[in-house]
Amino acid sequence: MPVIAVVNRKGGSGKSTFAAHVAAWCARQGHSVMLGDVDRQQSSRAWLKRRDAALPTIAAWGIDQKNMLRVPTGISHVVLDTPGGIHGFELARVVMFADAIVMPVCPSMFDRESAAACHAELMTLPRAASGRCRLAVVGMRVDGRTNAAQTLSDWAQGLGVPYLGALRETQLYVRSLERGLTMFDLAPSQAAADLAQWEPIIDWLRPVLQPLPGASTREPISTQGSAQESLLHGSRFAVLSGARALNPEHYIPVRTLPQAPVTEGPEIPRFLKA
Ligand SMILES: Nc1ncnc2c1ncn2[C@@H]1O[C@H](COP(=O)(O)OP(=O)(O)OP(=O)(O)O)[C@@H](O)[C@H]1O
Ligand SMILES: [Mg+2]
Repeated sequence: MPVIAVVNRKGGSGKSTFAAHVAAWCARQGHSVMLGDVDRQQSSRAWLKRRDAALPTIAAWGIDQKNMLRVPTGISHVVLDTPGGIHGFELARVVMFADAIVMPVCPSMFDRESAAACHAELMTLPRAASGRCRLAVVGMRVDGRTNAAQTLSDWAQGLGVPYLGALRETQLYVRSLERGLTMFDLAPSQAAADLAQWEPIIDWLRPVLQPLPGASTREPISTQGSAQESLLHGSRFAVLSGARALNPEHYIPVRTLPQAPVTEGPEIPRFLKA
């Protein structure tokens, strides 16, 4: 099951926007895709609620009787949206079960500095450093009239990370997302310029999303003890596909970690509370 995670500790860098688009692209390809928030804000879940049921289906986390988050039965592809500020154990857990991580980076110096720190932390994680979890950068909200794309490209090259291109700043993204849509759901004539910008990104993602039969980059999965449970933002996070639960090969590898404190707040869905 390919897992794509969208990561950048800088808030507002376009992670949820990017994750929604990758999920929508997968759905248009006929994949059974889940878009999961590893994020108490639950932006992706809120976006999914706005999405018309007639559009290609994107599933959200399933919630079982024990209030645990699960990949629903039958899912073949997972896209994970992550929160700003992610680091430490939370970042390590995402890397542990991601096949690829895309970092959307806005052009400012502050955004690049923050992304560089996030990249440096990723490089301390063996799965990312060894390339078993592939990394790439996408320029986000780039003004084509400036040299921002070139600056980002040079910066990514300096880090040794593939730069997949830039997505321009346009209200079309904002308006589409408000309606539960992505560029992939619009008429090609309406979104031609933006769809063209997505092409190199999709080209890079395609081998991850459509791996050759038998190909696997996943590490051997521990089946010791209760290794199938984890905590993400204070929730117990069970990452096994219901249909495949009896086959340990199909668990997404996670570790049991101590319970983190959970902040109470109106935006926290009930199932994320302790
Ligand atoms: N290409 C774009 N053009 C214009 N606006 C954009 C574009 N991409 C994202 N945005 C807007 O930028 C804002 C931040 O985007 P988004 O919510 O995807 O970022 P995020 O990284 O998920 O934020 P957070 O760290 O808070 O989760 C949103 O208002 C979104 O609509
Ligand atoms: Mg977000």
